Amino acid sequence: MARRYSRQEEALEVKSLRRIISSYLNYPDAAEEDIKRYERSFAKLPPAHKDLLSHLPAKYTRLRRCITANTYFIMHMLQAFEPPLDLSQGIEIDDHENREIIADGHRRSVTLSNAVDGDTCSEHVTTSGNRGSIHEPLSGKDDNHVINDAPRSNGEEETRIGSCCNESGDRPLTHSHCKDACDCQEDVKMAVDEAASCCSSVANVNGSSLLGWLDTSLKMNVPQVDVDKVRCIIRNIVRDWALEGQRERDQCYKPILKELDRLFPVRRKERPPSCLVPGAGLGRLAMEISSLGFVSQGNEFSYYMMICSSFILNHTQTADEWIIYPWIHSNCNSLSDSDQLRSVSFPDIHPASAGITEGFSMCGGDFVEVYNDESQRATWDAVVTCFFLDTAHNIVEYIEIISNIVKDGGVWINVGPLLYHFADAYGPDDEMSIELSLEDVKKVAFHYGFELEVENIIETTYTANPLSMMQNRYFAAFWTMKKKQKHTSQPSGQ
Ligand SMILES: C[S@@+](CC[C@H](N)C(=O)[O-])C[C@H]1O[C@@H](n2cnc3c(N)ncnc32)[C@H](O)[C@@H]1O
Repeated sequence: MARRYSRQEEALEVKSLRRIISSYLNYPDAAEEDIKRYERSFAKLPPAHKDLLSHLPAKYTRLRRCITANTYFIMHMLQAFEPPLDLSQGIEIDDHENREIIADGHRRSVTLSNAVDGDTCSEHVTTSGNRGSIHEPLSGKDDNHVINDAPRSNGEEETRIGSCCNESGDRPLTHSHCKDACDCQEDVKMAVDEAASCCSSVANVNGSSLLGWLDTSLKMNVPQVDVDKVRCIIRNIVRDWALEGQRERDQCYKPILKELDRLFPVRRKERPPSCLVPGAGLGRLAMEISSLGFVSQGNEFSYYMMICSSFILNHTQTADEWIIYPWIHSNCNSLSDSDQLRSVSFPDIHPASAGITEGFSMCGGDFVEVYNDESQRATWDAVVTCFFLDTAHNIVEYIEIISNIVKDGGVWINVGPLLYHFADAYGPDDEMSIELSLEDVKKVAFHYGFELEVENIIETTYTANPLSMMQNRYFAAFWTMKKKQKHTSQPSGQ
């Protein structure tokens, strides 16, 4: 049963959510700052060099239009979001309680986080190879928020897939609206002009024309790293929901789907098998599993991710409804400006028409908090982890929970590297990080009653720009493990 949470904890949750909303709202300003920096550098060139690069000012103009188009999508997404808390409330936080809550890494009150996993951005690889990230979970009111109106256990309620329409009444920037402009001359002008005019009606971040709950007073200054998380989300959209992400999805998701299909050949509508996807990101894998005939639940603790997945899953009207320019934020490793400025349309599939199985849900909250619960014991026929295991403070705890929630004879399928998320977290908080080799991870899994059925290495990228001159490759571990019949693990600490 959910315990009562203090006003301080709720205030922290509100603060966290406001910061995330602000990060989204600050996206255009931060991007504009970048362009101004490019322009300042250009202005410093000697005249002869300027003449040689006379096309660059036009590129900066095009970049601005791309930012407008990205902002247009972001604003529609925010507009559709229904905050689970009243964001207009005062957020005075007692510093002492704040410190106590933050210091207790295993507190029950932690729910959704403002972290975007460092994994989500391949461009943020640090020198040690770890994907840099900021992990700042904050407190919350309930044990787990379910942003997509979804239940915390499977099968109770459905997501509102496709049930909502564009509240602003504005015409979305559709693929067909901009296709000609983009295809003909790699110029985004027409598309973004349309976005700009629509933006000015719904998304004037600095003005006063925002609608509904999205009030301009919510916009506060946030550090650059927060806006970087928005850029990460844009790349994740490509991975999960654009045609350009198909190769990554084929590499990571297809082997998982094939295994599920092989292991559960009979999927009756009346009694479909159940599958949990912890760390579900933007929800594509969880949706594909649902379409395969499973009662599928994605679990995700990042508000950045949940706001976006909720929008795509619940508010998309048609395939290719939206246009973004995901690669504009890096001038590095481009083969051409047109590569960098190319548009990407999404979603490549209309979620509401994807043949999902009843009971599909996205459950917001920390995997450890939500699923380390007696009510979850032996609940799932399958658990699927994709680029998730290395997000753990304590990977042993993750594996123990997975073992507890999988039914005897059920399966755990995993794809991912072991680029431990907290390995580089040198800070005053001294964050716990248990970093095991693959050999040790398997040993732990065997201890908790799993048997290896299939093992493989999968070469893949993560949110990579397929046209970039730099591609970070992973040789990710893939396995299917079966939980032995009648395995009873000892409670931890014994
Ligand atoms: C590297 S991403 C992978 C996302 C997705 N599975 C994919 O393959 O694209 C890891 C995801 O796990 C989420 N995550 C990290 N720790 C989590 C936790 N304790 N509970 C729930 N989600 C978590 C992150 O927010 C992030 O979306």
